[in-house]
Amino acid sequence: MSTARSHTVPQHVAIIMDGNGRWANKRGLPRTLGHKKGVEAVREAVRIAGDLGIDYLTLFAFSSENWRRPEAEVNDLMGLLKVFIRRDLAELHRKNVRIRIIGDRVNLRGDILPLLEEAEETTTRNTGITLVIAFNYGARDEITRAVQALAVDVAAGRLAPEDITAQRVASRLDTAGIPDPDLVIRTSGEERLSNFLLWQAAYAELVFVPEFWPDFDRDVFLRALDVYARRDRRFGGVTSAPTLAVGS
Ligand code: FPP
Repeated sequence: MSTARSHTVPQHVAIIMDGNGRWANKRGLPRTLGHKKGVEAVREAVRIAGDLGIDYLTLFAFSSENWRRPEAEVNDLMGLLKVFIRRDLAELHRKNVRIRIIGDRVNLRGDILPLLEEAEETTTRNTGITLVIAFNYGARDEITRAVQALAVDVAAGRLAPEDITAQRVASRLDTAGIPDPDLVIRTSGEERLSNFLLWQAAYAELVFVPEFWPDFDRDVFLRALDVYARRDRRFGGVTSAPTLAVGS
């Protein structure tokens, strides 16, 4: 059941789901089981975020750099995403979840792209939480593609260089229309952004939690939200501001 968002609950939470491999290693299990358990944590995170009244939840599922992993692991991750969409799409749709995919779609495997598009199309009119899945996503790649699109417009005379504003750049990113994240959480104790939402997270609060992603549950989520609620967001000014115009 959805509840109204309190003023301390962020509108948009983005999560770097890290530590599946280490979770498995610690237990003497294959990495693939860590990823499998990670999918259960994804289901839980979507459910909790919806319950709390969070409007947008972005999950870093597969980075444009993850292709460097061994082929078997890449196949495992693809398989898990496929299973997740096949098995969970109907349920997510029933729960009024809207799905958006960000990341480069060009050259995506023929068995993945149609599934991602189906997930978006099926849920496009839903009005509940928006689940943004970052797949084949890298922020530098996203910004580069946006700049290329603007350059095409300038070259064609549709846009003057001085008309390239921060708002216009934001409107060409994969996240166009999605408000910037208020909070970025990374699990597993690593403290970096790893090419995730570099433009959009300009004013996000960063919270790093020690738990590996498969152990991400309600308690861990609430603790991260509690840290967020105690932060003083100033957006470069001296007092807290409720919204940030650029990128929304
Ligand atoms: C990081 O763990 C996690 C990933 C690279 C992928 C996250 C993917 C899932 C949870 C499953 C599919 C996603 C969805 C949305 C259904 P790691 O392998 O880097 O762990 P390590 O740093 O401990 O090795």
